[in-house]
Amino acid sequence: MKHETIEKNATLLLIFSFLVVTIGGLVQIVPLFYLQNTIETVEGMRPYSPLELAGRNVYIREGCYVCHSQMVRPFRDEVERYGHYSLAAESEYDHPFQWGSKRTGPDLARVGNKYSDEWHREHLSNPRNVVPESIMPGYAFLSGKEIDPDGIGRHLAALNLVVNNGRGAMYRPEDLENARADLVAQATGEDIDGLMQRYPKALARNFDGDPRITEMDALIAYLQMLGTLVDFSTFKADLSR
Ligand code: HEC
Repeated sequence: MKHETIEKNATLLLIFSFLVVTIGGLVQIVPLFYLQNTIETVEGMRPYSPLELAGRNVYIREGCYVCHSQMVRPFRDEVERYGHYSLAAESEYDHPFQWGSKRTGPDLARVGNKYSDEWHREHLSNPRNVVPESIMPGYAFLSGKEIDPDGIGRHLAALNLVVNNGRGAMYRPEDLENARADLVAQATGEDIDGLMQRYPKALARNFDGDPRITEMDALIAYLQMLGTLVDFSTFKADLSR
């Protein structure tokens, strides 16, 4: 009966609809303002090194996210296939995040260290060289595109402008000053002390076998570190939160 009153009175119906939508909206939106408190800090997470960031830029530019997700969902089938489900903290330094929304190819959140650099080089140049039935496009041209190490500092600085997660700037002044040196060190595997201290667990070597520093180096460096920063043999989820 009471419902009939509301349904027959347009003004009442509008008022109540508005109320319902407002409450529903608040429930979804308000928690976002407290995001800093809800994402726990997890040991091992660090911002991307300059070379990894350059690779990530290539990943975004080439639209790899159109076919690949980067989020292992907490379901048994996914965990058995890809490894530990993704943590919120693992996207802490992803701006914009690369969760993706479609899997034409497999999830890449934990592809790091799964294959050799040579495998990636072959696969990215022409996926059919290593996976005959693959429908992934080839990206051989990345081997010919050199990266200007002088420009990378500006990418780091730009991220500092974009990111405000309440924990201070993403990159420290010393990271910005050494951006060029760190990029070169990681792509050559030489003089890596500073790099390793600023970006623990960074993989430093010539990724594509070519002495030049190319977008292929950067993309492989990025793929090889995905999902490897958190040590899941010691990680314990804080379930009290
Ligand atoms: C048109 C869709 C499509 C696009 C775009 C695409 N991929 Fe793929 N990718 C696939 C498919 C399908 C597979 C599975 C077959 C294979 O291994 O080639 C795959 C496999 C992979 C794998 C191996 C994953 C594993 O665990 O075996 C990697 C790494 C990868 N892609 C990286 C990339 C990167 C980097 C880009 C962007 C430069 C990219 N892909 C763009 C469809 C795509």
